[in-house]
Amino acid sequence: GIIRKPAAFISTICDERGQELSYCGVPISQVLERQLGVGGVISLLWFQRELPEWACKFFELVLIVTADHGPAVSGAHNTMVTARAGKDLISSVVSGLLTIGDRFGGALDRAAADFCAAYDRGLHPQEFVNDKRARGELIMGIGHRVKSINNPDSRVRELKAYVTSRWPAWPVTRYALDVEAITTRKKPNLILNVDGIVAAAMVDLFRHCQLFTAEEGNNYINMGSINALFVLGRTIGLVGHYLDQKRMKQPLYRHPWDDITYMSPLN
Ligand code: ACO
Ligand code: LMR
Repeated sequence: GIIRKPAAFISTICDERGQELSYCGVPISQVLERQLGVGGVISLLWFQRELPEWACKFFELVLIVTADHGPAVSGAHNTMVTARAGKDLISSVVSGLLTIGDRFGGALDRAAADFCAAYDRGLHPQEFVNDKRARGELIMGIGHRVKSINNPDSRVRELKAYVTSRWPAWPVTRYALDVEAITTRKKPNLILNVDGIVAAAMVDLFRHCQLFTAEEGNNYINMGSINALFVLGRTIGLVGHYLDQKRMKQPLYRHPWDDITYMSPLN
Protein backbone atom coordinates (compact mmCIF):
# COMPACT_ATOMS: atom_id res chain seq x y z
CA GLY A 1 0.00 0.00 0.00
CA ILE A 2 0.90 3.65 -0.11
CA ILE A 3 3.09 4.76 2.78
CA ARG A 4 1.98 8.22 3.78
CA LYS A 5 4.70 10.61 4.83
CA PRO A 6 3.89 11.75 8.39
CA ALA A 7 2.74 15.37 8.32
CA ALA A 8 5.14 17.98 9.69
CA PHE A 9 2.29 19.89 11.34
CA ILE A 10 -1.04 19.04 12.88
CA SER A 11 -3.63 21.80 13.09
CA THR A 12 -7.04 21.51 14.70
CA ILE A 13 -8.52 25.00 14.67
CA CYS A 14 -8.88 26.34 11.17
CA ASP A 15 -9.24 24.90 7.65
CA GLU A 16 -8.87 27.05 4.55
CA ARG A 17 -8.69 24.26 1.94
CA GLY A 18 -12.34 23.92 0.91
CA GLN A 19 -14.57 26.42 -0.82
CA GLU A 20 -15.17 28.14 2.46
CA LEU A 21 -12.85 28.94 5.33
CA SER A 22 -13.96 27.35 8.59
CA TYR A 23 -13.10 28.14 12.19
CA CYS A 24 -12.98 24.89 14.16
CA GLY A 25 -15.44 23.32 11.73
CA VAL A 26 -17.83 26.28 11.59
CA PRO A 27 -17.93 27.86 8.10
CA ILE A 28 -17.19 31.57 8.13
CA SER A 29 -20.63 32.30 6.58
CA GLN A 30 -22.22 30.67 9.64
CA VAL A 31 -20.00 32.71 11.98
CA LEU A 32 -21.35 35.83 10.28
CA GLU A 33 -24.96 34.70 9.86
CA ARG A 34 -25.25 33.58 13.47
CA GLN A 35 -23.54 36.79 14.60
CA LEU A 36 -21.03 34.90 16.76
CA GLY A 37 -18.95 38.06 16.91
CA VAL A 38 -15.31 38.42 17.92
CA GLY A 39 -16.10 36.64 21.20
CA GLY A 40 -17.45 33.66 19.27
CA VAL A 41 -14.35 33.60 17.07
CA ILE A 42 -12.14 33.58 20.17
CA SER A 43 -14.24 30.74 21.54
CA LEU A 44 -13.74 28.67 18.36
CA LEU A 45 -10.09 29.46 17.61
CA TRP A 46 -8.76 29.45 21.18
CA PHE A 47 -10.97 26.92 22.95
CA GLN A 48 -12.17 24.70 20.08
CA ARG A 49 -15.84 24.96 21.02
CA GLU A 50 -18.85 27.20 20.82
CA LEU A 51 -19.08 28.69 24.28
CA PRO A 52 -22.42 30.18 25.38
CA GLU A 53 -23.30 33.76 24.49
CA TRP A 54 -22.59 35.06 28.01
CA ALA A 55 -19.00 33.76 27.84
CA CYS A 56 -18.39 35.17 24.33
CA LYS A 57 -19.78 38.55 25.40
CA PHE A 58 -17.41 38.47 28.37
CA PHE A 59 -14.41 38.09 26.03
CA GLU A 60 -15.66 41.13 24.10
CA LEU A 61 -16.15 43.07 27.33
CA VAL A 62 -12.56 42.28 28.34
CA LEU A 63 -11.28 43.44 24.93
CA ILE A 64 -13.21 46.70 25.28
CA VAL A 65 -12.07 47.55 28.81
CA THR A 66 -8.44 46.53 28.29
CA ALA A 67 -8.10 48.25 24.88
CA ASP A 68 -6.24 51.20 26.35
CA HIS A 69 -5.38 52.91 29.62
CA GLY A 70 -3.83 56.13 28.47
CA PRO A 71 -0.42 57.17 27.15
CA ALA A 72 1.38 56.99 30.52
CA VAL A 73 1.49 53.20 30.94
CA SER A 74 4.50 51.09 29.92
CA GLY A 75 3.03 49.59 26.75
CA ALA A 76 1.68 52.80 25.24
CA HIS A 77 4.85 54.67 26.22
CA ASN A 78 7.11 52.19 24.42
CA THR A 79 4.89 52.23 21.33
CA MET A 80 4.91 56.03 21.19
CA VAL A 81 8.68 56.29 21.64
CA THR A 82 9.24 53.66 18.95
CA ALA A 83 6.83 55.35 16.52
CA ARG A 84 8.59 58.66 17.10
CA ALA A 85 11.92 56.98 16.33
CA GLY A 86 10.53 56.48 12.83
CA LYS A 87 9.74 52.81 13.09
CA ASP A 88 6.86 51.00 11.39
CA LEU A 89 3.55 49.83 12.88
CA ILE A 90 4.63 46.28 13.70
CA SER A 91 7.89 47.32 15.40
CA SER A 92 6.09 49.98 17.42
CA VAL A 93 3.25 47.71 18.51
CA VAL A 94 5.60 44.85 19.35
CA SER A 95 7.78 47.13 21.45
CA GLY A 96 4.67 48.04 23.47
CA LEU A 97 3.55 44.43 23.75
CA LEU A 98 6.96 43.41 25.08
CA THR A 99 6.35 45.39 28.27
CA ILE A 100 3.43 43.13 29.19
CA GLY A 101 4.46 40.95 32.09
CA ASP A 102 3.93 40.30 35.79
CA ARG A 103 3.92 43.99 36.74
CA PHE A 104 1.93 45.33 33.80
CA GLY A 105 -1.00 43.58 32.14
CA GLY A 106 0.52 40.12 32.14
CA ALA A 107 -0.28 38.98 35.66
CA LEU A 108 -3.45 37.12 34.63
CA ASP A 109 -2.03 33.61 34.21
CA ARG A 110 -0.14 33.59 37.49
CA ALA A 111 -3.08 35.21 39.29
CA ALA A 112 -5.37 32.50 37.89
CA ALA A 113 -3.02 29.69 38.88
CA ASP A 114 -2.50 31.10 42.41
CA PHE A 115 -6.18 31.87 43.15
CA CYS A 116 -7.19 28.49 41.73
CA ALA A 117 -4.60 26.54 43.75
CA ALA A 118 -5.44 28.40 46.97
CA TYR A 119 -9.19 27.86 46.45
CA ASP A 120 -8.67 24.15 45.63
CA ARG A 121 -6.56 23.68 48.77
CA GLY A 122 -9.32 25.24 50.85
CA LEU A 123 -6.89 27.92 52.08
CA HIS A 124 -8.71 30.72 53.89
CA PRO A 125 -8.11 34.03 52.00
CA GLN A 126 -6.29 35.36 55.08
CA GLU A 127 -4.01 32.30 55.07
CA PHE A 128 -3.33 32.87 51.35
CA VAL A 129 -2.35 36.51 52.02
CA ASN A 130 -0.19 35.49 55.01
CA ASP A 131 1.45 32.73 52.99
CA LYS A 132 2.37 35.12 50.16
CA ARG A 133 3.74 37.66 52.65
CA ALA A 134 5.80 34.96 54.40
CA ARG A 135 7.33 33.97 51.05
CA GLY A 136 8.01 37.63 50.22
CA GLU A 137 5.89 37.30 47.05
CA LEU A 138 3.47 39.85 45.58
CA ILE A 139 -0.07 38.60 45.07
CA MET A 140 -0.65 38.57 41.32
CA GLY A 141 -3.82 40.42 40.31
CA ILE A 142 -3.68 42.69 43.36
CA GLY A 143 -2.48 46.32 43.41
CA HIS A 144 -2.54 49.36 41.16
CA ARG A 145 -0.32 52.41 40.74
CA VAL A 146 -3.16 54.96 40.59
CA LYS A 147 -6.43 53.13 41.31
CA SER A 148 -7.50 52.38 44.89
CA ILE A 149 -10.61 51.93 47.01
CA ASN A 150 -10.78 55.75 47.12
CA ASN A 151 -10.35 56.03 43.34
CA PRO A 152 -12.04 52.82 42.12
CA ASP A 153 -11.30 51.26 38.76
CA SER A 154 -14.54 51.41 36.73
CA ARG A 155 -13.25 48.61 34.47
CA VAL A 156 -13.09 46.25 37.43
CA ARG A 157 -16.55 47.35 38.56
CA GLU A 158 -18.02 46.56 35.11
CA LEU A 159 -16.33 43.18 34.90
CA LYS A 160 -17.36 42.26 38.44
CA ALA A 161 -20.99 43.23 37.77
CA TYR A 162 -21.00 41.14 34.58
CA VAL A 163 -19.50 38.03 36.14
CA THR A 164 -21.60 38.08 39.30
CA SER A 165 -24.83 38.50 37.30
CA ARG A 166 -24.12 36.20 34.32
CA TRP A 167 -21.82 33.39 35.53
CA PRO A 168 -23.66 30.25 36.70
CA ALA A 169 -20.98 29.83 39.42
CA TRP A 170 -18.13 32.12 40.44
CA PRO A 171 -16.49 30.78 43.62
CA VAL A 172 -12.94 31.78 42.61
CA THR A 173 -14.09 35.32 41.80
CA ARG A 174 -15.66 35.39 45.27
CA TYR A 175 -12.34 34.16 46.67
CA ALA A 176 -10.38 36.89 44.87
CA LEU A 177 -12.80 39.54 46.18
CA ASP A 178 -12.30 38.16 49.70
CA VAL A 179 -8.53 38.47 49.21
CA GLU A 180 -9.04 42.10 48.08
CA ALA A 181 -11.07 42.83 51.22
CA ILE A 182 -8.00 41.79 53.26
CA THR A 183 -5.28 43.50 51.19
CA THR A 184 -7.15 46.82 50.95
CA ARG A 185 -7.26 46.92 54.76
CA LYS A 186 -3.45 47.04 54.61
CA LYS A 187 -3.16 49.61 51.78
CA PRO A 188 -6.00 51.27 49.81
CA ASN A 189 -4.31 50.65 46.44
CA LEU A 190 -4.09 46.88 46.96
CA ILE A 191 -7.33 46.38 45.03
CA LEU A 192 -8.28 43.47 42.82
CA ASN A 193 -7.04 44.88 39.52
CA VAL A 194 -8.15 44.25 35.91
CA ASP A 195 -5.74 41.34 35.57
CA GLY A 196 -7.00 39.84 38.83
CA ILE A 197 -10.73 40.02 38.11
CA VAL A 198 -10.34 38.63 34.56
CA ALA A 199 -8.09 35.86 35.87
CA ALA A 200 -10.52 34.82 38.61
CA ALA A 201 -13.51 34.93 36.23
CA MET A 202 -11.63 32.80 33.69
CA VAL A 203 -10.81 30.20 36.35
CA ASP A 204 -14.52 30.03 37.13
CA LEU A 205 -15.30 29.72 33.41
CA PHE A 206 -12.77 26.91 32.98
CA ARG A 207 -13.44 25.07 36.21
CA HIS A 208 -16.88 25.83 37.63
CA CYS A 209 -19.32 26.41 34.75
CA GLN A 210 -19.54 22.85 33.33
CA LEU A 211 -18.05 23.93 29.98
CA PHE A 212 -14.66 22.22 30.19
CA THR A 213 -13.46 18.99 31.79
CA ALA A 214 -11.25 19.54 34.85
CA GLU A 215 -8.20 18.49 32.80
CA GLU A 216 -9.03 20.87 29.94
CA GLY A 217 -9.69 23.71 32.36
CA ASN A 218 -6.37 23.16 34.17
CA ASN A 219 -4.50 22.95 30.86
CA TYR A 220 -5.92 26.27 29.66
CA ILE A 221 -5.04 27.90 32.99
CA ASN A 222 -1.47 26.59 32.70
CA MET A 223 -0.78 27.29 29.02
CA GLY A 224 -1.02 31.12 29.00
CA SER A 225 -4.50 31.48 27.52
CA ILE A 226 -5.68 34.09 30.01
CA ASN A 227 -2.88 36.61 29.41
CA ALA A 228 -3.90 36.38 25.76
CA LEU A 229 -7.06 38.36 26.50
CA PHE A 230 -5.07 41.37 27.76
CA VAL A 231 -2.54 41.06 24.91
CA LEU A 232 -5.31 41.06 22.31
CA GLY A 233 -7.26 43.88 23.96
CA ARG A 234 -4.25 46.17 24.47
CA THR A 235 -3.08 45.67 20.89
CA ILE A 236 -6.08 47.81 19.87
CA GLY A 237 -4.80 50.71 21.95
CA LEU A 238 -1.18 50.29 20.88
CA VAL A 239 -2.21 50.54 17.22
CA GLY A 240 -4.13 53.69 18.19
CA HIS A 241 -1.06 55.24 19.86
CA TYR A 242 1.12 54.41 16.83
CA LEU A 243 -1.37 56.06 14.44
CA ASP A 244 -1.77 59.03 16.79
CA GLN A 245 1.97 59.77 16.86
CA LYS A 246 2.31 59.35 13.08
CA ARG A 247 -0.78 61.50 12.40
CA MET A 248 0.71 64.32 14.43
CA LYS A 249 4.16 63.78 12.85
CA GLN A 250 5.74 63.73 16.29
CA PRO A 251 9.54 64.13 16.24
CA LEU A 252 12.16 61.79 17.68
CA TYR A 253 11.77 61.61 21.43
CA ARG A 254 14.74 62.35 23.66
CA HIS A 255 14.29 62.23 27.41
CA PRO A 256 15.21 65.52 29.17
CA TRP A 257 18.48 65.56 31.11
CA ASP A 258 16.85 67.22 34.09
CA ASP A 259 14.67 64.15 34.58
CA ILE A 260 17.65 61.81 34.83
CA THR A 261 19.92 61.48 37.84
CA TYR A 262 23.40 60.79 36.52
CA MET A 263 25.39 58.90 39.14
CA SER A 264 28.88 57.85 38.20
CA PRO A 265 30.36 55.20 40.49
CA LEU A 266 33.76 56.98 40.21
CA ASN A 267 32.91 60.37 41.76
N1 ACO B 1 0.68 41.92 46.86
C1 ACO B 1 1.15 42.23 48.08
N2 ACO B 1 1.70 43.41 48.38
C2 ACO B 1 1.79 44.31 47.41
C3 ACO B 1 1.32 44.06 46.11
C4 ACO B 1 0.75 42.81 45.86
N3 ACO B 1 0.30 42.48 44.64
N4 ACO B 1 1.54 45.13 45.32
C5 ACO B 1 2.14 46.04 46.09
N5 ACO B 1 2.29 45.55 47.35
C6 ACO B 1 2.91 46.23 48.48
C7 ACO B 1 4.42 46.25 48.32
O1 ACO B 1 5.00 45.10 48.89
C8 ACO B 1 4.78 47.51 49.04
O2 ACO B 1 4.71 47.25 50.45
P1 ACO B 1 5.65 48.07 51.48
O3 ACO B 1 5.23 49.53 51.34
O4 ACO B 1 5.31 47.45 52.78
O5 ACO B 1 7.03 47.83 50.98
C9 ACO B 1 3.64 48.43 48.70
O6 ACO B 1 2.52 47.60 48.44
C10 ACO B 1 3.93 49.30 47.50
O7 ACO B 1 4.50 48.49 46.49
P2 ACO B 1 4.86 49.02 45.06
O8 ACO B 1 5.57 47.96 44.26
O9 ACO B 1 5.53 50.36 45.19
O10 ACO B 1 3.42 49.21 44.47
P3 ACO B 1 3.06 49.92 43.16
O11 ACO B 1 1.84 50.70 43.47
O12 ACO B 1 4.18 50.61 42.54
O13 ACO B 1 2.78 48.66 42.22
C11 ACO B 1 1.81 47.08 40.89
C12 ACO B 1 1.66 48.46 41.47
C13 ACO B 1 3.04 47.04 39.99
C14 ACO B 1 0.58 46.77 40.06
C15 ACO B 1 1.97 46.07 42.03
O14 ACO B 1 0.88 46.18 42.90
C16 ACO B 1 2.11 44.64 41.54
O15 ACO B 1 3.19 44.23 41.11
N6 ACO B 1 1.01 43.84 41.64
C17 ACO B 1 1.04 42.44 41.29
C18 ACO B 1 1.14 42.22 39.81
C19 ACO B 1 -0.10 42.67 39.08
O16 ACO B 1 -1.22 42.36 39.46
N7 ACO B 1 0.12 43.35 37.95
C20 ACO B 1 -0.99 43.81 37.09
C21 ACO B 1 -1.37 45.23 37.41
S1 ACO B 1 -2.91 45.71 36.59
C22 ACO B 1 -2.46 46.06 34.99
O17 ACO B 1 -1.33 46.22 34.68
C23 ACO B 1 -3.55 46.13 33.93
C1 LMR C 1 -3.45 49.41 32.40
O1 LMR C 1 -4.52 48.94 32.05
O2 LMR C 1 -2.55 49.73 31.60
C2 LMR C 1 -3.20 49.63 33.80
O3 LMR C 1 -4.19 49.29 34.68
C3 LMR C 1 -1.87 50.00 34.29
C4 LMR C 1 -1.90 51.43 34.78
O4 LMR C 1 -0.93 51.77 35.48
O5 LMR C 1 -2.81 52.18 34.50
